[in-house]
Amino acid sequence: MKIAIAGTGYVGLVTGICLAEIGHEVVCIDKNQTKIELLKSGMPPFYENGLEGLLKKNHNIQFTSDFKTAYKEAEIIFIAVETPENVDGSANLTYVYEVSKEIINNLQHDCTVVLKSTVPVGTSDEIEEFMKKNIHNNINVEVLSNPEFLSQGTAIKDTMEASRIIIGANSTEAANILKQVYEPFNRPFVVTSRTSAEMIKYASNDFLALKISFINDIANLCELVGADIEDVTKGMSFDERIGAKFLRAGVGYGGSCFPKDTKSLHWLSKDRGYELKTVRAAIEVNELQKTRLIQKAKKQFVSFDGIRVTVLGLTFKPGTDDLREAPSINNIDILLNEGAIVTVYDPVGMENVKKMYSNKITYAQTPESALQDSEVCFIFTEWEQIKQISPSQFKKNMKTPNVYDGRNCYRISDMIDAGVNYISIGRP
Ligand code: UDX
Repeated sequence: MKIAIAGTGYVGLVTGICLAEIGHEVVCIDKNQTKIELLKSGMPPFYENGLEGLLKKNHNIQFTSDFKTAYKEAEIIFIAVETPENVDGSANLTYVYEVSKEIINNLQHDCTVVLKSTVPVGTSDEIEEFMKKNIHNNINVEVLSNPEFLSQGTAIKDTMEASRIIIGANSTEAANILKQVYEPFNRPFVVTSRTSAEMIKYASNDFLALKISFINDIANLCELVGADIEDVTKGMSFDERIGAKFLRAGVGYGGSCFPKDTKSLHWLSKDRGYELKTVRAAIEVNELQKTRLIQKAKKQFVSFDGIRVTVLGLTFKPGTDDLREAPSINNIDILLNEGAIVTVYDPVGMENVKKMYSNKITYAQTPESALQDSEVCFIFTEWEQIKQISPSQFKKNMKTPNVYDGRNCYRISDMIDAGVNYISIGRP
């Protein structure tokens, strides 16, 4: 099938390359010419495992800024543009409407439009109404909701081997068109109304965020009663109703989805006069959790003024160069405000951090050199490269081996044996 995809962010690009892999003719559209040129040369504009290899070898995918031609020729158009957060937590749909307008201005045949961006419940209905009202000829546009569940770092696998493919459609015929597109993936389909499909996406993300905030809450209590969160989660996870996933305590969730999607659904619930109190709690716990580790360190260092600090791990999770809503950023800002001398290391995120802090901090080439002469080290992302630092290395390289680990990367006994003053999350 001839497929056009508006937006070359994570969702658009990964969906595009995966659909091209199963034989569709895909054209990805973006207004940013620099991005298009980069993509034409086979380079992804962000780091994602396996993406560059697929872009370089696949010949079914094209990149263009010429949306007019792309929409004219497409049988199916996916909208995968950004839906940033407004100041009040609601979702900003400016880009979705912009693309919808461009589509109706250029369509020359009946077309299926698939909303893949995470949009507030009810948006697919509104977009279809908008398109049908404003289209200039007798062309029929059918809007489908098709949320995605890919995670950064495993995005290709998550798409090719999706746990489920959600199709929100107002008719069986429309749903069948999208089923045909995805058939080669051979994954389970869940066909619902458009509104339910939109809700599935938010409810899934918010449930996972809730799970993380719940376990962080329990971890904080573990510290007060002398229990160990790692043992507690292990014990809980044998119950299949609970499971082991998304129960890792730490410095809270970041990234482009959980923070935005929790706030957006909470906003919607309040707007409809029924506040989701569980989601509000998840948001509040997460906000506090992000800086909890540094609050603990404040008991030891009353002020960080003039203190040499190492920060290991900057991205919001391993496997990505993305810093959006990363807990490391809140903490680096606090440290700099207090006058700390900060050296950072991240295996993949350094270039993006440089764009934010330029010469305000020092960028180390290796974790070992980042630790040199440091008085306190904070760990915010559990990269393998960081977990592999031996406990004795902290003792050897640091001036005073104080390690505040926000991702429980080490065994407490190993750190104590190496002579490290080790403080982690939810553990004695
Ligand atoms: C998430 C969803 O998992 C995905 O289905 C959706 O499509 C987009 O949002 P992503 O943001 O890429 O994916 O990362 P994810 O692996 O879910 O992690 C999000 C955040 O939660 C990270 O900051 C991570 O460190 C944190 N997290 C995750 C925890 O703190 N504990 C856990 O147990 C799991």
